[in-house]
Amino acid sequence: MEIEDREEIGGYTLLRYSWESAIEPGQFAMARVAGYPVTFDPFLARPFSYYDHDSETASLLFEVRGRGTALLDDARDRIEVSAPLGRGFRIDESRGPAALLGGGIGVAPLKILSRRLNALGVCHDVFLGFADTRYAAVAEDFPGASVATVDGSAGIHGTVLDAVPDLERYEAVYACGPNPMLAAVKRAVGDRVICQLSVEERMGCGNGSCNGCVVPVRDGGYVRSCVEGPVFDAEMLAW
Ligand SMILES: Cc1cc2nc3c(=O)[nH]c(=O)nc-3n(C[C@H](O)[C@H](O)[C@H](O)COP(=O)(O)OP(=O)(O)OC[C@H]3O[C@@H](n4cnc5c(N)ncnc54)[C@H](O)[C@@H]3O)c2cc1C
Ligand code: FES
Repeated sequence: MEIEDREEIGGYTLLRYSWESAIEPGQFAMARVAGYPVTFDPFLARPFSYYDHDSETASLLFEVRGRGTALLDDARDRIEVSAPLGRGFRIDESRGPAALLGGGIGVAPLKILSRRLNALGVCHDVFLGFADTRYAAVAEDFPGASVATVDGSAGIHGTVLDAVPDLERYEAVYACGPNPMLAAVKRAVGDRVICQLSVEERMGCGNGSCNGCVVPVRDGGYVRSCVEGPVFDAEMLAW
C-alpha cells in the first residue's frame, strides 16, 4: 500500500493509506516495510490493530519497540499489509452505556470502535492510560476521553482503571492493553456485564498456521489469538 500520510503523535507514529474494504473494530493487519528488491528484513510482518477507517482511508498507530517497528517508522512510500485479520469486537447494540478502556498502545483499536459505537447510537465513555504525558498526547484524538498516567504527568495519577469513577454503571466493557491490565479489568468487571478483551500476544504468521500466538482458555487447552481472537470474551480466558 502507498503511504498517504504520516504523523508523529507523542510517542507514537500514525500511518494512513488508502483502503476501501470493510474492517471490523478490533481486527488487525500484519504489516511490514515494503522493499525493492523484495526485502526479508524483517522476515515476518508484525500485527497492528486498525486505528481508524473511514471507508476510504485506514490508519495504523504504532510504537517503535524493535526492528520491525523501527523499519516501519522509517517507511515513507509503501508498506506491505495483509488484512483484515482476526475476530474483532462483537457489539450488542442493546447493551449500553459501554466503557472503552485502553492501556498504552492498547488505545489503538478504541478509535475505530468508538466510531462504530457512534454509528450504532451506543452511548459510551473512553478511558485511556499511559506511562507519561508524552504518550498521553494521543488522547487529543479521543475528544472527551478520561486520561490517567502512571507518573501523574497528565490526567489522573494511576492506571486506566483509576480513571473510571463508577465501573458499575456500564453494561459493556471493551478493553485493549497488556495482559496484566486486561486481567485487572476482568477482575474489576466481574461476570455481570459484557466484557471483551483484545489481547496482544506476539504473532508469527497471523493466519492460524504457526500456533505462535496461543492463549490459555478456561475450559483447558489453548486457542490461537490471530484467528479465534484477538478479541475474546473475558470469561473464556484462563487468566
Ligand atoms: C493483535 C495485535 C495488535 C497489535 N496492535 C498494535 C498496535 O496497534 N500498535 C502497536 O504499536 N503495536 C501493536 N501490537 C504490538 C506489535 O505487534 C509489536 O510491538 C511489534 O510486533 C513489535 O515488533 P518489533 O519488530 O518492533 O519488535 P521486536 O524486536 O519483535 O520486539 C521488541 C520488544 O518488544 C517486545 N514485544 C514484541 N511484541 C510484543 C507484544 N505483542 N506484546 C508485548 N511485547 C512485545 C519483545 O518482547 C521485545 O522485548 C499488536 C500486537 C497484536 C498481537
Ligand atoms: S500467529 Fe501464527 S497461528 Fe497465530
